[in-house]
Amino acid sequence: MKLAVLSCSSKCYSTRRLREAAQQRGHDVKVLNTLKFAIDLEEGHPDLYFNQHQLTHYDAVLPRIGASITYFGTAVVRQFEQMDVFCANSSGGISNSRDKLRSLQILSRHQIGIPQTTFVRDKKDVLPAIERVGGAPVVIKLLEGTQGIGVLLAETVQSAEAIIELLQNQKQNVLIQKFVAESKGKDIRAFVVGDRVVAAMRRVAQGQEFRSNVHRGGSTEQVELDDVYCETAVRAAQIMGLRVAGVDLLEGKDGPLIMEVNSSPGLEGIERCTQLDVAGAIVDYMAAQVNFPEIDLRQRLTVSRGYGVTEIHIPEGSDYVGKTISSSGLRDNDINVLTLYRGAKVIPNPRSERELEAGDRLLAFGKLESMKGLVPAKTRRKRQQGIQDLPELPVAEEALIEEAMVEEQLVAPESTAPVAQVSSEEE
Ligand SMILES: Nc1ncnc2c1ncn2[C@@H]1O[C@H](COP(=O)(O)OP(=O)(O)O)[C@@H](O)[C@H]1O
Ligand SMILES: [Mg+2]
Repeated sequence: MKLAVLSCSSKCYSTRRLREAAQQRGHDVKVLNTLKFAIDLEEGHPDLYFNQHQLTHYDAVLPRIGASITYFGTAVVRQFEQMDVFCANSSGGISNSRDKLRSLQILSRHQIGIPQTTFVRDKKDVLPAIERVGGAPVVIKLLEGTQGIGVLLAETVQSAEAIIELLQNQKQNVLIQKFVAESKGKDIRAFVVGDRVVAAMRRVAQGQEFRSNVHRGGSTEQVELDDVYCETAVRAAQIMGLRVAGVDLLEGKDGPLIMEVNSSPGLEGIERCTQLDVAGAIVDYMAAQVNFPEIDLRQRLTVSRGYGVTEIHIPEGSDYVGKTISSSGLRDNDINVLTLYRGAKVIPNPRSERELEAGDRLLAFGKLESMKGLVPAKTRRKRQQGIQDLPELPVAEEALIEEAMVEEQLVAPESTAPVAQVSSEEE
């Protein structure tokens, strides 16, 4: 395979090890500086230039995108995706992983443990939010911090409020998170490659420090993870759209809690601690997967007019309960079941003789008209209405009246901005 490692630091341990592991296995490997690409866009022909030369063909790309160049780096990865080159981590997955709020939002719809977390903006929401996550001590996090910088523990509600106010005044967005006391000063780093954990370690904080990051002086020890921890880590990486990921978990009293999923995990700490060839595992995995580049399924499947992807719920008492997929008549109505979700279980490409149960969710592709009646009412979108004439009242004036009514109820200081600023979101 011809492999490109996208990295700005060709000399660092991780990049060196990846290059070495690929060479040992007889692959043709190049480390390409992410910042030296130019992205060319032309009808039907996405292209990349590297150091002013058109890029030659690569079979696979391993992105190692640092947090400081996320925007440009993910644009380069996205371009490889458009060119149908296999990328170990998707551009979307990398973007998602960079924002602690966004990643927890994505994870929170799945049956996967996460520490209770809230995100608020209005001052009046701060105190109730702290209470909702269990009161003090409480963890406060900047959305885009790494290496433990921007993670604080507030011992009292008063200090939490003061810290949050200070940060918000500095235009910083913060998350308020339950302090998982039983995991104080330690966490688990599970290194996920594809659908397995290839190495894991426990990180233990120094002295009174509650953050166990190695950059904060934390030490590492080998750990044997049980199936629940492994499965949780792999699912978290998959949900985020990452095939190579460093998943950080807290050891909660009721099981693992996902703290974050890193898309460019360092190799030095984990390889030194476990003495395992993690770089080799990444390269082997990529060589086996190289023919399956990421496809944006929704984008590809919905280009046929009248067809789309949706989730069908099978509620208690539904006619479908107890029927097999083939006897349900779904296929006759031009509906294909791609995946069946049953509790925390995911059954891909379910067989036609599989029986449906109450509570099942079916990811289906088919004729939208046939699927309409099967989508639960609350998520069913209204059919598009014909476009109506403008009302007599000028729209801006109407909006102002509504705005005034809302303000009366809320009296939020920020929302009393002058009218000129109200529409500043519009271009
Ligand atoms: N909710 C929490 N409860 C207990 N400890 C936590 C919690 N959140 C973070 N920590 C500790 O702080 C460290 C850093 O937090 P993390 O969210 O991973 O931020 P960063 O991206 O900066 O590493 C973690 O490794 C863990 O030791
Ligand atoms: Mg971390």
